[in-house]
Amino acid sequence: MTFEILPIGDGHTALSDEDAEGLIPTYLATRGELFEAEQRNIADALLRVAPTIDRLLDDSYLRKLHRSMFDQVWRWAGTYRVRETNIGIDPKEISTAVRNLVDDARTWIDSGEFPDDVAVRFHHRLVSIHAFPNGNGRHGRIYADCLAQAIGSTSFTWGYHLGMETEELRAWYLRALRIADRGNLEDLLLFARS
Ligand SMILES: Nc1ncnc2c1ncn2[C@@H]1O[C@H](COP(=O)(O)OP(=O)(O)OP(=O)(O)O)[C@@H](O)[C@H]1O
Ligand SMILES: [Mg+2]
Repeated sequence: MTFEILPIGDGHTALSDEDAEGLIPTYLATRGELFEAEQRNIADALLRVAPTIDRLLDDSYLRKLHRSMFDQVWRWAGTYRVRETNIGIDPKEISTAVRNLVDDARTWIDSGEFPDDVAVRFHHRLVSIHAFPNGNGRHGRIYADCLAQAIGSTSFTWGYHLGMETEELRAWYLRALRIADRGNLEDLLLFARS
């Protein structure tokens, strides 16, 4: 296996050697090919997806969706991270943190918070926990889309209409996340609807 293909760098999870061993396809030669294999897997998984709010607020479904998005590419798809990464909380605390997050989201919904506020806050908390060895950003954005739809809003556009190249778009997204890390969700909300 070639390690150059593995995701590294700003805002990406650096995979440990053990997690990198979980790569299933043997034909991937570049990072671009890995990304394409993951995209095919995700597109397949999403054909079957329209979860209800009760499913989305069940932490076992949260793992199940990650599994179905990445199971053709990674052996650890759908299982929580067991190693420290450059982003995210202590792996021992992940399962409790995810359960607390789905419980909190139920409270936000029951107390009448706007659907977009609920979904974007959920997204930020989830990617900050960084529950999985990789794929947290993509899983978290799709989860927010599903959540928004299930509670009466629509999928987000995540900067698509800004007309930027991928790297610039990513820089904007990461900047909005870092502002959200300091407790202000406005920029992330704006970005998600741009
Ligand atoms: N400062 C931060 N605070 C919260 N979340 C962050 C921060 N920096 C990065 N992230 C999240 O981590 C994600 C990258 O993690 P990971 O590589 O597991 O996801 P991915 O789906 O493979 O990547 P990508 O989002 O680039 O497609 C980012 O997309 C973002 O959601
Ligand atoms: Mg990644």
